[in-house]
Amino acid sequence: MLLRFIPGATKNPLTSHFWLPSVAWVISYGDGIPEIDSANNKPSSPEIAAVRLRAIELYLQTLRPDTPVMSRSIALRMANITAIRQNPAVQAALRKLLETEKNEAARNALRSVDPQAWMSDLQDAVKNEPLAASLKDAQGKPQLTPQFLSDFRYFSDYVAPELNRPQRMDEMSCMKCHGVAGRVPSMELTAPNGDGYWSMPKMLKNYLTLQQRVNLAEIETSKLLRKPLNVQTGKEDGHQGGRRYLPAERGYQIIRRWVLDQPRVMQSLGASAGSGR
Ligand code: HEC
Repeated sequence: MLLRFIPGATKNPLTSHFWLPSVAWVISYGDGIPEIDSANNKPSSPEIAAVRLRAIELYLQTLRPDTPVMSRSIALRMANITAIRQNPAVQAALRKLLETEKNEAARNALRSVDPQAWMSDLQDAVKNEPLAASLKDAQGKPQLTPQFLSDFRYFSDYVAPELNRPQRMDEMSCMKCHGVAGRVPSMELTAPNGDGYWSMPKMLKNYLTLQQRVNLAEIETSKLLRKPLNVQTGKEDGHQGGRRYLPAERGYQIIRRWVLDQPRVMQSLGASAGSGR
C-alpha cells in the first residue's frame, strides 16, 4: 500500500520530509537475498521499478542546496546506505555537491563506490592489520585474490549493515552489544559512525574477527551460524544475546551466504582448512 503513495520530487517540503526516511527501504524493497559476485539491483517488477525511480527523485531533490537543512541533513546521512550509494544518479549528485561544500558523509559514501580509492584504502588497511596475515605474502605485501575481493565486498555491502540493523523485536542490533567496548569480551566488533559508515581499517578488522568464528572443517557448527539462532542443546549453550533470527529470515540468510563462502576464499588464499573455531 505504502509503495503506491510514495511521491517523486514534490513542491511541499513537509511532504518530502515525511517520505524521505522511507527511501531507505523502498530502494531495495522486493529484492531477493543478495548473492556474492552478482549484481542485485534489478527491480523485481515494472511497478517496483517505477516506485524506486520516484523514491530516487525525491531523494535527489532533498540533496539540493535549497532544501530545508533538517531534511537535507537526514538525506546526507542516508547517502551511505548500500542501495543508495550504488545508484549512479545519487553518485553524480554527491560528486556535484562536493564541488562546492565539504561533507564527510557524502565523501565517505563516494569513496566506497570508487573502485580505485576502495582498493588503495583496502591495501593500506591490510598492511597495517595484524589479523590480516592470510592476506599478505612473506614480505608483508598485500595479496588479494578475486575470491577474497568479492567476498569482502559482499561483507561490506550486506553483512556489516545487517549487523548494524536494529531488529524489530527489541530495537537491538548485533553492534549494540558486540560493538560496545568491554560489553562482550569474547567477541568485540567495531560499530560504525552515525552515518552507518565504517572506515576501511574498521571494516577489515570486523571481517577478520567474524571470519575467525567460521569453522572451515565443519562449517555448520560455526559459531557465527549457531549463536544468532540461540540453539540450546546438551552440546551447545545458546547465545547470551538471545535468539536473533529464525533460520529463514533474510538477515540470517545474508550472514549464512557469507559464512558458506569462506572455504572458497581461504582456499584462494592458500590457507589450509581447519583453522577456524
Ligand atoms: C543483547 C546483546 C547481544 C546481541 C544483540 C547480540 N549478541 Fe552475540 N553475544 C552476546 C554475548 C553476551 C555473548 C557472549 C556469551 C555467549 O557466547 O553467548 C555473545 C556471543 C556471540 C558469539 C560467540 C563469540 C565467541 O567467539 O565466543 C557470536 C558469533 C555472536 N554473539 C554473534 C552475534 C550476532 C551475529 C548478533 C546479531 C545478529 C549478535 N551476536 C547479537 C550478546 C549479544
